Amino acid sequence: MLSIAKMRTKLLFGNWKMNSLKAECSAFLAESKNLLALSNSKHIEIGLAPSYLYLDQAIAEGNGITVYAQDVSDEEKGAYTGQVSVSMLLDHSVCGSLVGHSERRAYCNETDFKCNLKIKKLLKAGLGCIYCVGETLAEYDKGFAKDVIKAQIEVGLMNLKGLDLSKLVIAYEPVWSIGTGKNASEEIAQDICSYIRSLVKDMYGEEVASSMRILYGGSVKPENIHSYLKQNDVDGALVGGASLKADSFAKLIENC
Ligand code: 13P
Repeated sequence: MLSIAKMRTKLLFGNWKMNSLKAECSAFLAESKNLLALSNSKHIEIGLAPSYLYLDQAIAEGNGITVYAQDVSDEEKGAYTGQVSVSMLLDHSVCGSLVGHSERRAYCNETDFKCNLKIKKLLKAGLGCIYCVGETLAEYDKGFAKDVIKAQIEVGLMNLKGLDLSKLVIAYEPVWSIGTGKNASEEIAQDICSYIRSLVKDMYGEEVASSMRILYGGSVKPENIHSYLKQNDVDGALVGGASLKADSFAKLIENC
């Protein structure tokens, strides 16, 4: 178990949300070569999820940095105003997408069932996926965190047999820790990430579970990233605010 766990390459992913205009993206991407060299030297994978409008720019100026969308439609094509399909991501050489971020669950009524359709579409197309799960503060306070996570995993990941699950990453992001500066303790992160791994094991077996990467997200900063990454079941971080500037991203990599 430990030797397989050691084989999981650490992953540091920046979710830029609705931030950064063209010039700010360019300033960041001008440092992408240095960031990639630094991450290679530390055997860490890195990636970015900018807004749709800047995906092309990130691919053109990013020196091969992995670029994901922040969301994708579960529909193929047609009358879905404002949505972007998996084929469109492929057409633009985007490597994958986040799915089920808590901000989309909260503001766009994203359900676990919708997330499941999106995950299947992405994996069938050979694209990557970071599936986000996490409980709200009210759910945490009532002691329901694991019940919420269980439903999100069991529904979100249903019927994936036969698909390439090595392209699937799970991110545990407690809603109460996102953008609040109130990061979950490393013990909570480890406890929930290990719980997620056990749920994946129940669904898809030991081999899939022990090779799946599970990230922590929520107020991750250069000062606290190491405390998460040293946990057995935390294989990296999904970072919002601290991923926007190249110097802060570089510090995150250095401190991994
Ligand atoms: P912050 O790192 O800004 O708390 O955001 C976390 C997040 O939502 C990443 O997806």
